[in-house]
Amino acid sequence: MSALFVTSTGTDIGKTFVTAGLIRLLRDQGAPVDALKPIVSGYDPSVAETSDPAVLLRALGRAVEASEVAAISPWRYRAPLSPDQAAAQENRPIDFAALAKFSQEAIAAHKGHLFIEGVGGIMVPINERYTVLDWMTALRIPVLLVVGSYLGTISHTLTALQVLASRNLRIAAIVVSESDRNAVPLEQTVASIEHFSAGIAVIGLPRLPGGLNSHPAFAEIARQL
Ligand SMILES: Nc1ncnc2c1ncn2[C@@H]1O[C@H](COP(=O)(O)OP(=O)(O)OP(=O)(O)O)[C@@H](O)[C@H]1O
Ligand SMILES: [Mg+2]
Repeated sequence: MSALFVTSTGTDIGKTFVTAGLIRLLRDQGAPVDALKPIVSGYDPSVAETSDPAVLLRALGRAVEASEVAAISPWRYRAPLSPDQAAAQENRPIDFAALAKFSQEAIAAHKGHLFIEGVGGIMVPINERYTVLDWMTALRIPVLLVVGSYLGTISHTLTALQVLASRNLRIAAIVVSESDRNAVPLEQTVASIEHFSAGIAVIGLPRLPGGLNSHPAFAEIARQL
């Protein structure tokens, strides 16, 4: 039984992709799995099918319909901006205490595996006072850190590790999801990060053609959870 917070060094890195792959693998193994993506920005209900909650709901085998989207993603905003900015545009600021309570209640109630996907990177502002780091600190569940393999990712990743360590957050594993741009060979990136990861497992996930597929890397990640 584990609850895991899926975070990243930035946006568009692979949090949802990795989470959906893990959900499919665990469901195939017969394990109970649930997932939340409490905050979504850039959410357009007219193209909900491509949204993060839709990707997660499909992996969970649930219908992509308004009530299901609302259940796993209560804070949805139209503007593709950081949550503080997207929420300000709609004059609907995110109440940090309500966000923490929603997450904590799900953690307390879950059976099997629960994935909570963050939003953007580790220190994206949620409102004028709190960032994703504060959210993770309030929950105190292990973190799955998803990073890219683009040139520059090593510094971003090691910076993220320091910040997570500053709050004593446990990192279950680091997943390097191969980037589609400026990519340095995946294995080289994994090896460089490993030199500094102090024993935390670093798992490379190749760029998988045609969207979601199974790959042995997902099983390797699941073993660390
Ligand atoms: N290893 C991979 N193989 C193939 N496609 C991938 C891989 N990793 C990520 N992608 C694709 O890259 C895009 C961005 O990934 P994803 O949506 O998972 O990022 P994210 O970190 O969840 O972003 P956000 O901050 O918006 O939630 C998606 O189209 C996803 O399918
Ligand atoms: Mg996502």
